[in-house]
Amino acid sequence: MIDIDPASRPDPIAYLDHVASTDVGRGYKRQVLDLLALRPGHTVLDLGCGPGTDLAAMADAVTSTGRVIGLDRDPAMVAEAGARLAGRPQVEVRPGDVHELPVADRSIDRARTDRVLQHVDDPARVLAEFRRVARPGARIVMAEPDWEGMLIDSPCPDVGRTLARFISTEMVRHGTLGRSLARLCEEAGLAVRSVVTVAPVFRDLATADHVLGLRRNLVRAVGAGYLEPGAEEWFDDLRSRPFLASALLFLVTAEAA
Ligand SMILES: C[S@@+](CC[C@H](N)C(=O)[O-])C[C@H]1O[C@@H](n2cnc3c(N)ncnc32)[C@H](O)[C@@H]1O
Repeated sequence: MIDIDPASRPDPIAYLDHVASTDVGRGYKRQVLDLLALRPGHTVLDLGCGPGTDLAAMADAVTSTGRVIGLDRDPAMVAEAGARLAGRPQVEVRPGDVHELPVADRSIDRARTDRVLQHVDDPARVLAEFRRVARPGARIVMAEPDWEGMLIDSPCPDVGRTLARFISTEMVRHGTLGRSLARLCEEAGLAVRSVVTVAPVFRDLATADHVLGLRRNLVRAVGAGYLEPGAEEWFDDLRSRPFLASALLFLVTAEAA
């Protein structure tokens, strides 16, 4: 993995809020909520809840008789999520690591990850933890990308291909996790109920750049020797023609026995 100058990273909370506010973000997050099939009274875990982006929607679905637990290892995310959800008594935001869930055995009805397992040390360990805390029949829904599925229309498609490979191998710990999730669930003893892909299309360069980090990762790819100096001109060229990019997200639903 490449060591990144923190100054070149976007503000993480602003980034997550922006993604959630786009048509793409709203669309797949709605799908994840539908797949979760939350009911009043459920206890649901949001693993890697970030700034609490989806906790209110989950609280609405489980009603005041249910419980929503948001978990994140980043204290800034926990503080932000706690502040945003302060008026919701059925929501609790806890600091913690998804590899060791601070939750009792067989106490959870539903769990969710949204672009989290791609970053953790050991996704298989997280699935084993879900199995430990799951009540019989409990469901987990995971939305995780496969960065090699990022496509960009350009007269020089090799640059886009190399950029996708750079992001998937150097920038994201498990950059091709999406395609492996169903297998990992089965290896963890979970029953896979559905695997659905979402391939959003971006016709607007600014939105694609913000969500996918095109320009900043291009600069890093040049710095890491993946692309020749001057490849930044490829990005500038994208501005001069009709734009199209796509990305690939896997939504996997699995259940405990
Ligand atoms: C891409 S963000 C997604 C946040 C949120 N799920 C959303 O959709 O807005 C990934 C989040 O996972 C958290 N995270 C990464 N590894 C973690 C771990 N091992 N334990 C707990 N949280 C973790 C990060 O701190 C970050 O808030």
